[in-house]
Amino acid sequence: MGVIIKEVGKALPRRVVHNTELEKLIDTNNEWIMERTGIEERRVAEEEKALDLAAAAAREALGDTDYDTIDLLIVATVTPDMLVPSMGALLKKELKLANAVAFDINTACSGFLYGLWMAEALMKNGAAEGSHTNHIGRALVVGVERLSRIVDWTDRGTSILFGDGAGAALLEMDDKKDGILSSFMKNYDDEGDVLTCGMEYLKNPFAKDEDVKQCLRMHGTKVFKFAVNAVGEVMDEALKRAGLTPDDIDHYIPHQANMRIITSAAQRFKQPLEKFQVSINGTGNVSAASVPMAMHDCYRSGKIKEGDLVMLVGFGGGLSAGALIYRA
Ligand code: UT7
Repeated sequence: MGVIIKEVGKALPRRVVHNTELEKLIDTNNEWIMERTGIEERRVAEEEKALDLAAAAAREALGDTDYDTIDLLIVATVTPDMLVPSMGALLKKELKLANAVAFDINTACSGFLYGLWMAEALMKNGAAEGSHTNHIGRALVVGVERLSRIVDWTDRGTSILFGDGAGAALLEMDDKKDGILSSFMKNYDDEGDVLTCGMEYLKNPFAKDEDVKQCLRMHGTKVFKFAVNAVGEVMDEALKRAGLTPDDIDHYIPHQANMRIITSAAQRFKQPLEKFQVSINGTGNVSAASVPMAMHDCYRSGKIKEGDLVMLVGFGGGLSAGALIYRA
């Protein structure tokens, strides 16, 4: 018995912002962005709320599934539309998922991986003999971001990188298939505050809080180094736990943060780059939505066949990282 990935979904805002448009806003150029990141354009929400994107991705993943059979909904995001209710609660209401337990998690760009890891554990726990917790036959894990809301559009070190979008996966218990074979999540302390976004709360007459700007700050080269090392560590561990070697994996679907990070992972594990899903050129880095959106691209291009071994890899703020291997 295993937890399988049954279907995926993806949604993007309509507005495309090409690198050349950013040339008009900041001191940058298309060639630099392409060469250093692999990004050519990204989507930026003009009218779409995060909820609209999440709902569209979720609906695609759900297809004609009976919505009443969804027992769990996890939304990974750092840019929820509201603090209360959670995106999970908003999405549950929007989709009319009568029976879903819904909540959010924030582990930045690793969020979707942590969501899958948690969903699998809760599903297996609920199914175990003598279990005293919720039975979960089907779960929906969604990654959604409107990072354009927390990007400083005057900062060329970050504004070129990020975009908006959503991705979703429908998970199901299956008594004949393996599904998820292994996973490994790890938190690393962000000692140098290399990737942060403050919270801009209201002033109150009693507290002595300093003013905080709610805006993404990143020390690019330090995050880059962290990413390259963390990706290696979590991939290694997930392979070890599944008793597999890099050659056994048919498709690698990494977080889409920088093409050079993807290339370095391929080199480290001596794998052809063709095994790695690359979606960054059209969307940029969409944090928790990047991995499910890239999964969607991999499925819809017909690359993933039943029985193939797939490894998902996430890394980002926290600092955090995770890898998960499943049989399609
Ligand atoms: O999802 C969360 C995880 N995030 C990441 O993994 C991001 C990791 N970091 C990166 O992807 C890269 O560090 C960046 C793409 C952000 C930057 O690339 P880099 O190769 O590390 O460039 P750099 O920051 O070392 O800057 C190199 C040069 C500098 O000029 P000088 O000092 O050599 O004259 C920068 O000022 O490039 C300059 N530069 C730019 N030039 C044109 C920095 N940003 C830009 C820009 N356009 N947008």
